[in-house]
Amino acid sequence: MQHIEQYQKSFLNHLEGFTVHKEPKNLYNPINYILELGGKRLRPVLTLMTAEVFGVNAQTAMDAALSIEVFHNFSLVHDDIMDDAPLRRGEETVHEKWNLNTGILSGDAMLIMAYQLFENYEAETFQALAKLFSKTALEVCEGQQYDIDFETRDDVTIIEYLKMIEYKTAVLVGAAMKMGAIVAKASNEDQNSIYEFGRLLGIAFQLQDDYLDAFGNPETFGKQVGGDIIENKKTYLVLKTLESGSKETQSALKKLMSNSELSNENKVDKVKVLFTNSGSAEATQEAVKDYTNKAFKVLEGLNIPEDKKQLLRVFGEQLMTRRV
Ligand code: IPE
Ligand code: IPE
Ligand code: MG
Ligand code: MG
Ligand code: MG
Repeated sequence: MQHIEQYQKSFLNHLEGFTVHKEPKNLYNPINYILELGGKRLRPVLTLMTAEVFGVNAQTAMDAALSIEVFHNFSLVHDDIMDDAPLRRGEETVHEKWNLNTGILSGDAMLIMAYQLFENYEAETFQALAKLFSKTALEVCEGQQYDIDFETRDDVTIIEYLKMIEYKTAVLVGAAMKMGAIVAKASNEDQNSIYEFGRLLGIAFQLQDDYLDAFGNPETFGKQVGGDIIENKKTYLVLKTLESGSKETQSALKKLMSNSELSNENKVDKVKVLFTNSGSAEATQEAVKDYTNKAFKVLEGLNIPEDKKQLLRVFGEQLMTRRV
């Protein structure tokens, strides 16, 4: 097994060969732009690591890892349109830098390219990867639709929220890992356990994403801080405040969320105070820890050597304390 940085490096090397400049430029330049904009590359690293956990060289999983990252970036291009987001990884979002139609079509092309990468595997592996990919991609659409539907609802429950983030975010983390296991021809039991580990880690990851969207440092976060508050997203922070804040806090939050007179800056500042004072900011951090620990429990039961478990644990801990 290698260190996390080494997996990142070899992935970036592979990505370089993928982002070739083709015509028409207005289709491919935005694709290369978003893929080269950086990001943590956590999903492809998980695919590569999982392949090695189950005993094959990371190179074998390189196209599956690339597929996952291309799909992830496709979902971000369309997500930024849907969330009206100006910033991604510290730079302009694709639909802002180009326009809406470019964001839609370049995104579509990326989804197809992600699928196409499975053609580099022999029939049996191809089929297993494609099957998992289709299921996961459809679930991501379902999660994204719930996310949008929840914007205009004021009775979203935490159970509904957890299902929404499982679909929009966590299943892709699970799939990233399962793909590594598929390429390594791991047993079905191992494939399912590693998927479950990834899924739980993915839930923790989205909870932390919600937290950082409000409390991240604008200098380093790379996205518009407070974007979720501006869009009335039903994040864990909101739902916890509505569940356990005082009556006054609850009605203050509801008022702020339905007030269209207030400037965005003012709204974000006021809502963040409620998140902090109600204890929901802290509760969100606790939930991140809880789901990370649930993931670690699954890891314990896995049929792999202790040093490999340790590497996955370190990865999970790094995600838990991340600031971007
Ligand atoms: C952002 O994912 C979208 C979510 C599912 C929260 P990342 O935080 O992994 O984005 P990058 O790729 O590192 O920019
Ligand atoms: C993104 O959720 C989930 C997908 C892209 C499928 P968010 O909307 O919270 O992601 P960010 O915060 O914009 O990265
Ligand atoms: Mg978004
Ligand atoms: Mg979104
Ligand atoms: Mg977010």
